[in-house]
Amino acid sequence: MALSTVSATQLIDSYQWRYAVKRFDPSKQIDAVTWAAIEKSLVLTPSSFGLQPWKFLVVRSPEVKAKLPAISWNQTQPGDCSHMVVFAARKTVDEAYVDAFIAQAAEKRGVTAEALVGYRNVIVGFLKNTTGRHMVWSSNQAYIALGQLLASAAVLGVDACPMEGIVALEYDKLLGLEGSDYATVVGCALGYRHPEDHYASMAKVRFDATEVIQYL
Ligand SMILES: Cc1cc2nc3c(=O)[nH]c(=O)nc-3n(C[C@H](O)[C@H](O)[C@H](O)COP(=O)(O)O)c2cc1C
Repeated sequence: MALSTVSATQLIDSYQWRYAVKRFDPSKQIDAVTWAAIEKSLVLTPSSFGLQPWKFLVVRSPEVKAKLPAISWNQTQPGDCSHMVVFAARKTVDEAYVDAFIAQAAEKRGVTAEALVGYRNVIVGFLKNTTGRHMVWSSNQAYIALGQLLASAAVLGVDACPMEGIVALEYDKLLGLEGSDYATVVGCALGYRHPEDHYASMAKVRFDATEVIQYL
């Protein structure tokens, strides 16, 4: 099947259009078809070894959303947005987790788990070397999902605000992550900009390409 693509101009227009929304329009919700594409973009996020050490908690409940600004530096976006995605990373990635992943990979690819034992051992070796730093590694993977989400939302014309201004431990408590294998890392509010959000018309502040991109 041929891949249908957006043009180079459309892509850059989307990224110029997007900005970190400071004020969402609480009356506007993301429709089901658009949300399904966004959800799929989260699931399709690539990760190191393909291990997907994350959970994506999607807060839709008005009651839960209403509690979020107080634990988000009093920022209003999590309360007014349509969908608040909370990225939780796996605290420890143990052999049992890797084995469950390998079993799934074997099933999807139509091979035996034994055929993947070499791959499994490379992963386990990597994780042993990363002992004590799994949460950092998992968080890095979660940020890849955040990036993919932001890009996907922009292309779909959905507004977003990535959010590190959240109290992760309080999110863990509210969302039932306390004592689980996962911990809150970052959030992303999604929905539609309020017409009076003046941040929408502010110039982008970015270093020139010549300062950050080096060709060799
Ligand atoms: C990981 C991450 C966390 C952020 N946290 C917040 C936040 O808590 N609140 C907020 O208003 N903006 C937040 N931002 C938005 C940035 O300030 C914004 O993306 C940056 O200034 C560039 O502006 P632009 O996204 O509007 O182009 C965050 C951005 C990223 C990537």
